[in-house]
Amino acid sequence: MTTASNTVVAPFRRAARIGAIQISEILRIAALATQRRKEGRPMIVLGAGEPDFDTPENVKEAAIRAIRAGQTKYTVLDGTAELKAAIRAKFRRENQLDYAQHEISVGAGAKQVMHNAFMATLDAGDEVILAAPYWTSYADMVLIAGGRPVPVRCAEENGFRLDAADLEAAITPRTRWLLLNSPSNPSGAAYSAERLRPIVDVLTRHPHVWLMSDDIYEHLRYDGTPFVTAVQLEPALASRTLTVNGVSKAYAMTGWRLGYGAGPADLIAAMRVVQSQSTSNPSSISQAAAIAALGGPQDHLATWRERFRRRRDSVVARLNAIDGIRCPTPDGAFYVFASCAGLIGRRTPAGDTISDDGAFCRYLLDAVDVAVVPGSCFGLAPYFRISYAASDADLDEACGRIARACERLQ
Ligand SMILES: Cc1ncc(COP(=O)(O)O)c(C=O)c1O
Repeated sequence: MTTASNTVVAPFRRAARIGAIQISEILRIAALATQRRKEGRPMIVLGAGEPDFDTPENVKEAAIRAIRAGQTKYTVLDGTAELKAAIRAKFRRENQLDYAQHEISVGAGAKQVMHNAFMATLDAGDEVILAAPYWTSYADMVLIAGGRPVPVRCAEENGFRLDAADLEAAITPRTRWLLLNSPSNPSGAAYSAERLRPIVDVLTRHPHVWLMSDDIYEHLRYDGTPFVTAVQLEPALASRTLTVNGVSKAYAMTGWRLGYGAGPADLIAAMRVVQSQSTSNPSSISQAAAIAALGGPQDHLATWRERFRRRRDSVVARLNAIDGIRCPTPDGAFYVFASCAGLIGRRTPAGDTISDDGAFCRYLLDAVDVAVVPGSCFGLAPYFRISYAASDADLDEACGRIARACERLQ
């Protein structure tokens, strides 16, 4: 391009900080599916990381009241006193944890809270251990903050849970954080107190490693074992743990952008610096809504859990009936993480080889208009993730189409 005076404008150059990081593969697949739907294809997209239920009425009403009451201005930087009081009460009620107000930080989603923490703590080359399969954003958030993601493979045979010995082997003097997510996106694996204990013991032996506990799927568990977060199990970890949570999943409030973290005051103060020079406060209206969510009735959760559990069981059964697919039953969240190892090497009717999980997912997209996400996006192949936060009819139709697509492979 040239300007009016015909001087040549330098081409766009990305900052090294974001290097080769791209918009997440999940969003790319969703955009492709939307495009094809516009072209008239009967797409079913099972990639969503959000409940298909509506935000509870009491929450919506609280937001409308806040708007009418003029709560539409900047608030204090990282959460109003009222919201922090509601978060403190939530931690006491559900996790038996007693955080002070200044040990809590509220941001525009759990994602911003984690981003703040990485920006506030990572120097170039500092390492963050991720339990693979992990939520795609973790690795990119670490990279943007200048750190180095260190994935540790969590075997299917171990329920996709992190093995304590593998964790210990991955720790180096540069390790700053272990990021643990229970129940997990994408595998649904959850850590009971018994399973968490060996992980906590490793951390106890390595006092320079901090823990980021992403508890965002806390309320979406189907195996009947009580939820436990690391600091609850081992109070000594409180001085080096950031416990992250939010309202996106438990209250179907993904669009409201509201999450929070609780941890040592020094860390929270450093995170506040990052937020102060990026977004400032999360939406005042969303904060008012979150007070209603956390402090109001919680009975929708039992209904949602039951609906998710039925969908999970149905999808797991349907996938396991397909030759070449193996689908373990996840403990929680709203995803299944199925193996397509048995299909690798087979050929499509068009003559293409299913060389990996990416090729399998592309085949499903092209041949039967079903969008799912390859396991390689989450650091573990050859698998694919299905989100069952979708209608029963769509799940039923999608499973039928996947079965037919697999039958056609040779
Ligand atoms: C594991 C995990 N953590 C955090 C988030 C982000 O939550 P929020 O909407 O609060 O930013 C997601 C969203 O998909 C997630 O899957």
